[in-house]
Amino acid sequence: MDRYAVIGQPVNHSRSPRIHAMFAAAVHHALTYERIEPARDEFEAAVALFRAQGGCGLNVTLPFKERAYALADQSSTRARAAGAANTLMFSSKGVFADNTDGAGLVRDLRLNLGVTLKGARILLLGAGGAARGVVGPLLDQEPALLVIANRTAARALQLCEALRASGAITPLWLSHCQACGLEEIPKGVFDVVINATSSSLNGSVPNIPPSVFGPRTVAYDMVYAQSTPFIEMAHNLGSLRAVDGLGMLVEQAAESFHLWRGLYPDTAAVLRQLRAESV
Ligand code: ATR
Repeated sequence: MDRYAVIGQPVNHSRSPRIHAMFAAAVHHALTYERIEPARDEFEAAVALFRAQGGCGLNVTLPFKERAYALADQSSTRARAAGAANTLMFSSKGVFADNTDGAGLVRDLRLNLGVTLKGARILLLGAGGAARGVVGPLLDQEPALLVIANRTAARALQLCEALRASGAITPLWLSHCQACGLEEIPKGVFDVVINATSSSLNGSVPNIPPSVFGPRTVAYDMVYAQSTPFIEMAHNLGSLRAVDGLGMLVEQAAESFHLWRGLYPDTAAVLRQLRAESV
């Protein structure tokens, strides 16, 4: 049977094995999907071993995404833009690295939430790996403006510089992108506000101007939980649609599944099931 796994540290709470098992069952593919948790300095050896044992592909999670990208022989444009990989595929040609996180976010926004990104004003909060992973696919949707705002403004500027240097994003689209500190966010309501900071994980919220939220703003926290401090803040400030990142998790998995297996599974059914299980 074809073997896949998620590799990270920790991975014991990863929902990827459950999601991929549901995908495989839905399309009648026989495969196995495991969890691998190597010691920090044994990531590359663990990947090599899995491949040598006949493994077909891996999902990669924290803290190994940059190292996964670095060990690949070939990579997708979106992995180059992210400078990190969450998906590896093994073949006779070597190791191929992809990053499906941004595509997962875009698919969730467009397909599940019905958001139009073309021409939209998008505010992306954060400048770590989570933010960088989604910038390329967001710009591909041709927003009018993508503001990358971070508590430490210098990191947002560095992120834009790294994207430019990666060569994976055309200068035209980078010109729609603006980097700043949280206190310099341009005035006016945004169509979409995405929290890619780790603030929800430590029970806080980014200190942003309330005026970014309007009734039609979609507030999106990449963290998945029934509610988060960011979701509560957006609701309190008038956004009628504030959601967590469970849809992104399922959609990035579907993108990985597509790369490995050549077809998209029905994600809506899986998302419904996961939501029901987490009640
Ligand atoms: P990841 O790879 O998950 O993005 P990271 O590289 O540690 O993690 O980045 C965490 C991000 O969350 C950063 O953008 C951080 O802002 P700083 O660069 O200023 O540290 C942001 N962050 C974390 N807690 C925050 C908070 N309470 N308010 C605003 N930003 C926060």
